Amino acid sequence: MKALVLAGGSGTRLRPITHTSAKQLVPVANKPVLFYGLEAIAAAGVREIGIVVGGTHAEIEAAVGDGSRFGVEVTYLRQEAPLGLAHAVLIARDFLGEDDFVMYLGDNFIVGGINEITGRFTQDRPAAQIMLTQVADPRQFGVAELDGDGRVVGLEEKPREPKSDLALVGVYLFTPAIHQAVAELKPSWRGELEITDAIQWLIDDGRRVESSVISGYWKDTGNVEDMLEVNRLVLESVEPRVAGSVDDASELIGRVVVEAGAVVERSRILGPAIIGPGARVLDSYVGPFTSIAADCVVDGSEIEYSIVLPRSSISGVHRIEASLIGHDVEVTPAPDKPKAHRLVLGDHSKVQIST
Ligand code: TTP
Repeated sequence: MKALVLAGGSGTRLRPITHTSAKQLVPVANKPVLFYGLEAIAAAGVREIGIVVGGTHAEIEAAVGDGSRFGVEVTYLRQEAPLGLAHAVLIARDFLGEDDFVMYLGDNFIVGGINEITGRFTQDRPAAQIMLTQVADPRQFGVAELDGDGRVVGLEEKPREPKSDLALVGVYLFTPAIHQAVAELKPSWRGELEITDAIQWLIDDGRRVESSVISGYWKDTGNVEDMLEVNRLVLESVEPRVAGSVDDASELIGRVVVEAGAVVERSRILGPAIIGPGARVLDSYVGPFTSIAADCVVDGSEIEYSIVLPRSSISGVHRIEASLIGHDVEVTPAPDKPKAHRLVLGDHSKVQIST
């Protein structure tokens, strides 16, 4: 079995971060979200991974390399434009050959890995196997309709009147039968080749499409709220570790990681939280569910439930919460109130806010 990981796309929901960076590389507990997926694929015993890349290919290639650090062999597949998930399968035709494959959306986060579903698929070999999960508002997702035996009888992309509350999770298993379906597709109203249409084609053609409903945790990290939520979840299980320096006037409470080369002085860090290598936290409060990436500075500030990307600095700001802050951002105080801020700052932004 091979894997096809989708790491192209336009990432409009994570702008402005995605104007300059790949959304799949936004860190969760200081590790790119894509890496969790690659690790899950490697843990399922898959060795050959094709990664579909678009405009951010250089950054993805620099981060993932040849895959050896994950124990896999990576082939990069250039998609000239984000023309849909099924289009990614189309351009991967030669790479995939006649092998079965798992398709994994590079910005999806699944707790519990994919060993169980890949194992079931390998034994059973339906034409396609999808993962579903119950969601509160199915209208934002691809939605599946099942018969009494759990077999998929219909799929709809973002339906106005959903036939169930079961949304498609971003992991799919296919036999080579999918290639015929993909080759027959026409672009949808939004101009994309939809994978839901390809799977519907298989169903209409009388092929077997199976599903498993997962109760574990799944998020599409395509928007800021979900990104912060995944970060919270992962931080909740980090092992506390102090490799950097923490002075006597500082207090670390709960699950706190201070990476090598990081400095914490006269500060209070209430875990779960992670302070990346080379970061400096001075006279500050870092609250729960916060990831501060490498070489950041948090000085005389308060921050919680946030993700800060490398080399940003936050000085004299009370308090930042529920925020995603890009690379090389500077946040400094402005003279006035209010006290709480919600920020989505692009790379290299400079913002003055009240304190
Ligand atoms: P999406 O999140 O559905 O699409 P997007 O990246 O264009 O984001 P947005 O809706 O915010 O504009 O994509 C899911 C994953 O698949 C993501 O990792 C990007 C990737 N992808 C491709 O590689 N090629 C494509 O043609 C598309 C549509 C997505």
